Amino acid sequence: MRVDVLTLFPGYFDGPLRASLLGRARDSGLLSVAVHDLRDWATDRHRTVDDVPYGGGAGMVLKAEPFFAAVEGLYGGIEQRPRTIVLTPRGAPLAQERVVEFAAEPGLPLLCGRYEGIDERVHAALAHDEVSIGDYVLAGGEAAAAVVVEAVTRLLPGVMGNTASGADESFSRGLLEYPQYTRPAEFRGMRVPDVLLSGDHDAVDRWRTEQAEERTRSTRPDLYRAWSQRTRP
Ligand SMILES: C[S@@+](CC[C@H](N)C(=O)[O-])C[C@H]1O[C@@H](n2cnc3c(N)ncnc32)[C@H](O)[C@@H]1O
Repeated sequence: MRVDVLTLFPGYFDGPLRASLLGRARDSGLLSVAVHDLRDWATDRHRTVDDVPYGGGAGMVLKAEPFFAAVEGLYGGIEQRPRTIVLTPRGAPLAQERVVEFAAEPGLPLLCGRYEGIDERVHAALAHDEVSIGDYVLAGGEAAAAVVVEAVTRLLPGVMGNTASGADESFSRGLLEYPQYTRPAEFRGMRVPDVLLSGDHDAVDRWRTEQAEERTRSTRPDLYRAWSQRTRP
């Protein structure tokens, strides 16, 4: 997969893209990420990419022209652009279902805002998806773009060592994951549940399902309701 990030702060990605899973995915050629400075598509000598909002109000708005020029320059035209994501707090909250869809795309342009946001015409004409990573406001879209890249990269074939773990983890079945333990069996008076030491795989599966249901019901009633409606109509 090829990811193109458009940002005012390319240096933001130096750390996240090099570490751990993302670094390995890039080294092995499963993921290619190009981080582009939006100012490279500014046309004046000050490399201006923002301007005051029409109608007044505080702050600056990122202009439409550099985003359009960047997408045209990178893909040979707007029509040829891959599925394009604008990071914005007003987007649909990122959920694993959508991460799975993104991971199946050959390319993903990620457009990061700053200041008061991005000219609406970029949202209207370039975004296939508007993505929020939560109900809070960040200073820019870079952290959100990094979240998208990491969540997507985990699902690229060949990236995760144990591919079974992707199918079993939180959200994959509509439930949060069951509790996980590793050795020692007792630590500071806290014992691993006996069933996990029993060697009875059916009992372990039953316990994990119960735990996943209970955990989802208590901490994410919204997910639990949706899951119940799907599985127990
Ligand atoms: C300060 S925010 C702009 C907020 C905007 N004025 C509003 O009220 O919706 C600047 C940029 O940060 C990014 N951003 C902020 N919060 C985000 C979130 N929760 N998810 C994704 N991107 C976010 C977006 O790219 C946005 O254009």
